[in-house]
Amino acid sequence: MPHTNRKKNPQNANSKPRIVHTKRQQIEDGDGWTHVVDTPRRSALTKKEGRLHAGDFEKNGVSYINQTLEETRKDFEYYTKQWETMEACEALKDKLVEVEGRRKADNVVVLGLGSLQNARREGRRASYTQLAALRTAVATLGGNPGCIFQDPQFTDLDREFLTSLGYTVVEDPEAFGKITESSLVYAIHCYADVYKTVSDAPRPAILIGTDVANFGKFNLSETTDIVAKSLEEMVQDCDEIDFPQVRHDFSDTKIYWRKVSEAAKP
Ligand SMILES: C[S@@+](CC[C@H](N)C(=O)[O-])C[C@H]1O[C@@H](n2cnc3c(N)ncnc32)[C@H](O)[C@@H]1O
Repeated sequence: MPHTNRKKNPQNANSKPRIVHTKRQQIEDGDGWTHVVDTPRRSALTKKEGRLHAGDFEKNGVSYINQTLEETRKDFEYYTKQWETMEACEALKDKLVEVEGRRKADNVVVLGLGSLQNARREGRRASYTQLAALRTAVATLGGNPGCIFQDPQFTDLDREFLTSLGYTVVEDPEAFGKITESSLVYAIHCYADVYKTVSDAPRPAILIGTDVANFGKFNLSETTDIVAKSLEEMVQDCDEIDFPQVRHDFSDTKIYWRKVSEAAKP
């Protein structure tokens, strides 16, 4: 039940109900009574399987907030501006200039960006920042590669927004089939099985993703051991550099680029 204070305002006795926005909401009703009510929370808290989710709706166990395309655009603009003022943005450009002379990407496959409607604010912020950083990376590397996005958590709005930026959004597992030896794969904080599938495809020219050494750190099972070996193999003939850090948005992220053999150099 919202908390309600009532006080009489005789001057407005016959006026229409009106909402005055303050920290709390003050509502004057048609009878001249002013109600001060606690601002309703944007999101309801629901408890499921012992975990707390804050959001407006839920799909496959993930909580999302309601958002319009215009709000998404504004949020992206905001986080892009923030990213562009960070040292990490300049550092990324500097690091990629080094890659540029060696290898160009014909296409970009983006895996696991996360939903821009995720109910977790930090989650949305990370996804927006990763998207802004991707655009910096693509612009720095040059050319005009098409970008293909895949994440099973994408909503219709994510698809609409990314499409409005000129990108292609595909359903899992289509993106893996788009990876070629000239691709840039951008997959920040993805799960081992995603990287494993990347390693089974033609191995990309550039991979931006979690440090593969992380997967070999814990000998959890024979399966994880096989995955770790496969990932290490995938990058064994790559040079690697650390991705510049911002909060936890790019934690443990590396840029791997495949060395071009002398014979293959133009
Ligand atoms: C740990 S989250 C990372 C999200 C975001 N990049 C970040 O750093 O916060 C992993 C993401 O990978 C996505 N994912 C899982 N399977 C995938 C698949 N087969 N292809 C693409 N993305 C996948 C998940 O839906 C999730 O959004």
